[in-house]
Amino acid sequence: MQDNDSVRGSWSSRWVFILAATGSAVGLGNIWKFPYIVGENGGGAFVLVYLACIACVGVPILMAEVLLGRRGRQSPVHSVRDVALEAGRSSRWSMIGIGGAVAGFLIFAFYSVVAGWVLAYMFHAANGSFTGAGSDHISGLFEQLLADPQALTIWHTAFVVLVMAVVIRGVNKGLEQAIRILMPSLFVLLLLLLMYALTTGSFGKSLHFLFDSDFSKLSWDGVLTALGHAFFTLSLGMGAMMVYGSYMPKQSSIATTLITVAVLDTVVALVAGMAIFPIVFANQLDPGAGPGLMFVTLPVAFGNMAGGQVFGFLFFLMVAIAAWSSAISLLEPAVTWMVEQYEISRARACIWIGLVGWTLGLGALASFNVGSDWLVLGMNFFDLLDFVTANLLLPAGGFFIAILVGWRITPSISRDELHLTTVNGYMIWHFLLRYISPVAVLVIFIANLYSKFQG
Ligand code: PFF
Repeated sequence: MQDNDSVRGSWSSRWVFILAATGSAVGLGNIWKFPYIVGENGGGAFVLVYLACIACVGVPILMAEVLLGRRGRQSPVHSVRDVALEAGRSSRWSMIGIGGAVAGFLIFAFYSVVAGWVLAYMFHAANGSFTGAGSDHISGLFEQLLADPQALTIWHTAFVVLVMAVVIRGVNKGLEQAIRILMPSLFVLLLLLLMYALTTGSFGKSLHFLFDSDFSKLSWDGVLTALGHAFFTLSLGMGAMMVYGSYMPKQSSIATTLITVAVLDTVVALVAGMAIFPIVFANQLDPGAGPGLMFVTLPVAFGNMAGGQVFGFLFFLMVAIAAWSSAISLLEPAVTWMVEQYEISRARACIWIGLVGWTLGLGALASFNVGSDWLVLGMNFFDLLDFVTANLLLPAGGFFIAILVGWRITPSISRDELHLTTVNGYMIWHFLLRYISPVAVLVIFIANLYSKFQG
């Protein structure tokens, strides 16, 4: 490939890439989903498997994904195709990019519904709806919101509009400015919440819950969820990191940059867990309460702490922003692909994609009310979207990325892009990518199918 320059501009520095990639990685997955799936899967053993998946499967594939994007300098579909062709392989590898764009849509559909709940909670917090309220009242508020398709549609639509407003302008303009301030603020607020959790008297119990590894509580299903979540939280396997990589300056180190992103992402998830579980235990709530966990625990804390009204508002504002910077990256692969493929303007591509994402989201939000009995394989549409993307499409995308970069492209290409200064660094990465990541994905898949078949 002679001309590797991105036609769509690039991040102004390595730090901006780190912020944008962290903005994509840190989102509802960390603050909303991680704590509730830990709760559903019994705690410590799940956390341990999740951390192993991040380090041994997630990070190597993350590096491979960004490498493909920076080499190809286009949308994921075309980047993968061109790098495969450069290595003398079939252009059909570009299917990875197409699968990824589809996964992005499907995630966007349920993601924007949950982000809508967060927007609604920002207003609840600001209005003082949580002040002095007990956990029963707060659970009631959440149930009321879910039962109201009209309210859900309004919040969902508001979120989709916010996302489209940035994607239309191009991610590396508006987004850069916003995340410079917003990501550090999110960290500060989480730490404040952690300090509140320390005062509940249940902090020790929650640490045991999060870090004591009792493997008898973990099923194969839980292991698949941990693996799927490692992909989900790192925005992996669907081209989001690839498209961000396509804007990455050529001289930046992919390895150190992405290890930083993975560490930041993991720290946010663990801190969110350490902030939420003490409140769960102190109020005799159920840690396995599922998707509503964050929406019924944290408001209890905000309602009963000094300054909770302001603090609660700021917290949900920050979660909304974290969701927003992630959702932008969910649509970017599909938008860049449409622009390149059909030679249409970015605005037109955004409108089409936004409309499809919004419509699918209506189906997802109906799962909690009018469509609660539309079940496929025992799951409502919302759960189905989550299961199919996190547990099937993202790991499958990651698997094929590992095979392509680990086995099919020449090491000279990956060495050239990674320019790892130590020989050992390259060897460890290449080993993990060739042998550990794809094998782990396959074993977990097969074990899960087997246990379902048995059970
Ligand atoms: N990583 C995001 C989160 O944890 O909330 C979700 C996500 C964003 C997944 C972008 C995939 C993606 F491409």
